[in-house]
Amino acid sequence: MSKLLVIIGITGLQGGSVARLFQQLPGWRIRGITRDPSKPSNAHLIEAGVELVAGDLDDRSSLDSAFEGANAIFAVTDYWQFLQQPATFEEAGKTGRLPNQVAMDHEVQQGRNIIDVAAKHLEGLDRLVVSTLSDSQKWSKGDIKWNLHFDGKAKYTEYLKATYPGLAAKTSYVQLGNYLSNWRMNPLFAPQKQADGSFIFYALAESNGKAIPYVDPPNDTGYFVEALIEAPAGITLLGYGKLMQAEEYVALWAKVHGVRAQFEALTAEVAKAAGLPEWLALEFIESGKYVSTYGWDGGDPDVKHPKDVGVDVSKLTKVEDHIRNDDWSSVF
Ligand SMILES: NC(=O)c1ccc[n+]([C@@H]2O[C@H](COP(=O)([O-])OP(=O)(O)OC[C@H]3O[C@@H](n4cnc5c(N)ncnc54)[C@H](OP(=O)(O)O)[C@@H]3O)[C@@H](O)[C@H]2O)c1
Repeated sequence: MSKLLVIIGITGLQGGSVARLFQQLPGWRIRGITRDPSKPSNAHLIEAGVELVAGDLDDRSSLDSAFEGANAIFAVTDYWQFLQQPATFEEAGKTGRLPNQVAMDHEVQQGRNIIDVAAKHLEGLDRLVVSTLSDSQKWSKGDIKWNLHFDGKAKYTEYLKATYPGLAAKTSYVQLGNYLSNWRMNPLFAPQKQADGSFIFYALAESNGKAIPYVDPPNDTGYFVEALIEAPAGITLLGYGKLMQAEEYVALWAKVHGVRAQFEALTAEVAKAAGLPEWLALEFIESGKYVSTYGWDGGDPDVKHPKDVGVDVSKLTKVEDHIRNDDWSSVF
């Protein structure tokens, strides 16, 4: 009898990668959770044999049905969507909290919902893999206060460990690195052509800091999750294909394209000129400071690297190939 892997976020970058890999692995069947299984863009999943079910991370009873009979669960929450939802700004207006604080609270609640419900399905569950990020406030000893897209995930991860030892004994964690596609996230992060034909890259990192873990989530996430399901529980894995300085990435990008390019750390002035609200600019800038000063994983000595936990690193996307194959036509 095949084992059941339940995937949260199956229509997204991380969960989609997990689904594509496990579809090829013998002995597994897949149940994917989406808010809307009837969306035309989800038809390919059903055609590929995925059992696609309706579920909402805000609705525990929907998770309860979706987790029924799971041998393994992959869990991810999506922080950035909340900053596009009017409800976040309404809540911020009512409560006097900043929009990113409201977003973090919402992400923490969704993470706790997943954990509370998974803890009810311990029997039969061999592994929960949680996509998380490190605790910036803790590892920076309070120096970093606004890296909230990291800290919300760290908060619910801590909640799992503190509240459910039985579930924690069956859980491993992956801290996905810096997406190679992040330049598309905001026009500010795309390479910007200068009058002399050269390019400037504004990035969430400071010059000559700690190396950045670069990752291609649509390809790589599945390999990390496969390794974490096969290895004993209790691992925290930093998920990346290559550790490199932001400067090295930009130099490689310039070499591949045969142009000159320069890396610059994002400053408050640049963010303001680009029209970012102050609270969001602060989150980006503190995030860059955190990863450059303390490291993506905060320097947590327990964090493992892909080669240490049995990931077939030859399958991970090479940064140079990603640069070569991505569509940069909007930039040139
Ligand atoms: N950018 C980076 O460098 C980086 C690095 C590490 C970690 N991350 C984190 O990665 C996370 C996003 O993961 P991703 O890139 O895989 O996301 P994505 O491609 O944007 O997809 C989001 C997924 O979440 C699902 N989802 C969202 N809200 C849901 C809800 N209420 N109930 C059920 N499903 C829900 C969506 O499903 P439906 O829409 O189909 O319901 C979709 O499958 C973010 O939290 C971000 O902080 C980003």
